[in-house]
Amino acid sequence: MTTTTTDIESRLFIDGEFAESSDGATFESLNPASGAVLSNVAHATSADVDRAVATARRAQPQWADAPLAERARVLRKTAELIEANVDELSVLESRDAGKPISDCRAQVAGTAQWFDFFADVSTHLRSDVIPSAPDHLNYTLRQPMGVVATITPWNYPLPLYGIKLPAALAAGDSVVLKPAEQPPLTALALARLMREAGLPDGVLNVIPGLGESTGAALVDSDVDMISFTGSTDVGRKIAAQAGSDLKKVTLELGGKSPSIVFADSDLDKAATGALFTFCVHQGQLCSAGTRLLVEDSIRDEFVGRLVGMAEELRVGDPADDSTQLGAVMSQEQMDRIEGYVESGIEQGARPLTGAERVTVDGLENGLFYRPTVFEDVSTDMKIAQEEIFGPVLSVLPFSSDDEAVGLANDVLYGLAAGIWTNDLRRAHRFAREVEAGIVYVNTMNALAPWSPYSGWKQSGLGVEGGIEQAESFTKLKTVWINLGDDVPSL
Ligand code: NAI
Ligand code: MG
Repeated sequence: MTTTTTDIESRLFIDGEFAESSDGATFESLNPASGAVLSNVAHATSADVDRAVATARRAQPQWADAPLAERARVLRKTAELIEANVDELSVLESRDAGKPISDCRAQVAGTAQWFDFFADVSTHLRSDVIPSAPDHLNYTLRQPMGVVATITPWNYPLPLYGIKLPAALAAGDSVVLKPAEQPPLTALALARLMREAGLPDGVLNVIPGLGESTGAALVDSDVDMISFTGSTDVGRKIAAQAGSDLKKVTLELGGKSPSIVFADSDLDKAATGALFTFCVHQGQLCSAGTRLLVEDSIRDEFVGRLVGMAEELRVGDPADDSTQLGAVMSQEQMDRIEGYVESGIEQGARPLTGAERVTVDGLENGLFYRPTVFEDVSTDMKIAQEEIFGPVLSVLPFSSDDEAVGLANDVLYGLAAGIWTNDLRRAHRFAREVEAGIVYVNTMNALAPWSPYSGWKQSGLGVEGGIEQAESFTKLKTVWINLGDDVPSL
């Protein structure tokens, strides 16, 4: 695999073949660091969507009935091929999504781990025998959902294919993937690798396109389940659309996660973690800790230290190994960040650092933003309540545990929450009381394929990761076998 412009695959992947869209339409994928067009990508029409879904429908029974060892082999081989192509995939992801190359390398390796883990899960998805009287055998069967639509956002392209595809494939489903339109290219590169790994034609189909056309057509099509990651607004829309014919939906949506720093914590580590969680990938992370709750007694010292560290971060060319913050995904995303920062200032919050774009030498058309820390924030301000998806932090002081928990829960979202403390009782109480699907104590944003997580409140429905996720890609069936002589009678 190479990533020269001429070699980038930018066509639809249906039934094991790459093809132009039915009407020949394309859309541009840009490199956000330079503004240059990276590729013209085939835009799937509703006819293409139907063809991809019909192909997946046709291929699914054979995949479901394939020997489990064969399913596991394909997933494991995919993991190996991802690892073998880490450089090419990282360069492509970095150019298509504006991410620092060093982040991309780590994320490509992480993606391989998801395929590897679910290779094992495919042979471990057990059903249960239910206790019953001796004259009955009562057991459950877990059967594949059928055809699963996966719709993913732009912030973590490859890692999200890792989070979605192997679990569904391990469960015996076939998949139609609509990647985000901003960085669609590594989805097609991955499809090529999965074909090479021996995935039968039609089991995975990739149909790039815009959300309101290709995405909406996929939700409306003859699929059995939709697994979506993206914004809460679009998640609600998809759930409503799918509700009309009761398709199963799982949603991993936005967040406004608190990271809470107590005076008793190791403040060096807390500052490092608090900086990481709001700045990683330019803040474009669903579980970013963008509400910093700091115990009043250490507020000035801690915030001062954090601001100093934020000012030393290297914002620059994603292709440069030493870059820590790369480009923001799109002009639309930049407008959104600038709009929120303006609203924070208008509502009376004070930026201690940042609140401005950065010009990077040689990349004057690139989209770069300086990490921004606001104080004098009140919990009802837009910057404290809404997901910005940029490196913008709101600092809120507290002076008691109850106040900290109250502030942590005072948002519509409930994805992640972090607490920095050396008091075990405090940590455990917080873990129980905070309304979030993932709680981090003295760390932030840890993730592993074998560890399940879910969004609470407006952050989602369903589970990702772990055997639990593969189970969610199945339908449960209960079987009663009568081993005795009696039958039900009136
Ligand atoms: P989005 O939710 O609009 O897009 C996510 C995916 O859904 C894309 O593949 C898109 O094409 C598709 N989509 C859009 N409208 C659709 C529809 N009506 N039917 C079916 N599919 C549709 O997210 P967007 O616009 O890329 O980002 C906007 C905001 O969403 C961000 O600023 C951020 O706040 C949030 N977001 C949250 C993410 C998360 O991981 N929770 C990831 C990306 C964005
Ligand atoms: Mg792009």
